[in-house]
Amino acid sequence: MEKTSDRKLEQLQIALSHPFPAGHSLDKVTLTPRLLPEIDFDEIDTSVKIFDHTLSAPILIAPLTGGTPEAEKINLALGRAAHATGIGMSVGSQKAMLENLNLMYTYQVRKVAPGILLFGNIGAVDLKNYSNDEIETLISNIQADGIMVHLNPMQEVFQEDGRTDFSGVLERIRELVSIPYPVIIRSIGCGMDSVTAKRLLQTGVAGIDVAGKDGTNWIELEGERRGGSYYYISETFKNWGLTLLQSLMELKEISQRTVIIATGGISNGLQGAKAIALGARLFSIGRIALYTLINHGEKALVELIERIKLELKIAMFGVGAKNIKELQQASFFIDDRH
Ligand SMILES: Cc1cc2nc3c(=O)[nH]c(=O)nc-3n(C[C@H](O)[C@H](O)[C@H](O)COP(=O)(O)O)c2cc1C
Repeated sequence: MEKTSDRKLEQLQIALSHPFPAGHSLDKVTLTPRLLPEIDFDEIDTSVKIFDHTLSAPILIAPLTGGTPEAEKINLALGRAAHATGIGMSVGSQKAMLENLNLMYTYQVRKVAPGILLFGNIGAVDLKNYSNDEIETLISNIQADGIMVHLNPMQEVFQEDGRTDFSGVLERIRELVSIPYPVIIRSIGCGMDSVTAKRLLQTGVAGIDVAGKDGTNWIELEGERRGGSYYYISETFKNWGLTLLQSLMELKEISQRTVIIATGGISNGLQGAKAIALGARLFSIGRIALYTLINHGEKALVELIERIKLELKIAMFGVGAKNIKELQQASFFIDDRH
């Protein structure tokens, strides 16, 4: 059986070797320009108050890694970049730490990022094997503010030794939300439909992250890792799921009742601004943050985040929104001809 930490390393290497897709579903969205913004660009406030933290902009670094010495270096660099730019982040799956507590150090982002909004992370299917106390310890051991739980049935089915018994997961999430920390349920790349989101909302979760299929493609990635017939089957399923645009439209109705996070292929602040106009409260960057860090270094990652923040601010100016609340009210067109 494959070790969790080895698997994470291999996923990271394959993810970094894949090219970034050319287009994004949010390219179909046009924010309505306001030629009379009636605001001063210099007074635009991109900050948000969320989960007892104030972020300089509604941006998170998505859960990416943990469990290996290399992952420790990456998590610390991501943490320092999040701290320097005033945004939030999540560590990657803490499954390796549950299996071997000695690996806890690979997730200790808090020591370099004392004030940031920080989430722990675990797979929904793993929840069934651990008690609420164990999950609480997972969060408190790394001094996180809450936990992101990923729902990845299609990834597990393509993964060798994947855990494919998803029965009872919803009930386990319902039990988990009684812990004294916010629980966010997330998709990792197949988007999310309104039926799933409403079922999750009824459990009392604090937020929903809807990584659309526009971003990192886990079916392709696992198909490539596993090889053999799964490689060919992953070709059949590589377009599985909803785009980020479809997911945000599905969840628009409930966006006033919970924190929606938009993820999946987001690489600039204009896409982030569109996601917020479509109902998201936060947006996150995954593979692009990792790619920038590994290939160009920590300074380049800080520059990337600052560039995304500036693009967000420019988009806000263009629609006449002086703060994020006003951006959420911005009107838009959706053009299907793209
Ligand atoms: C190498 C790699 C490892 C990841 N590991 C995790 C993880 O441990 N837990 C999780 O919830 N999501 C994980 N993700 C998914 C990301 O958090 C994100 O949802 C997904 O990659 C889509 O965003 P992106 O297109 O910006 O990368 C990982 C992504 C990558 C690229």
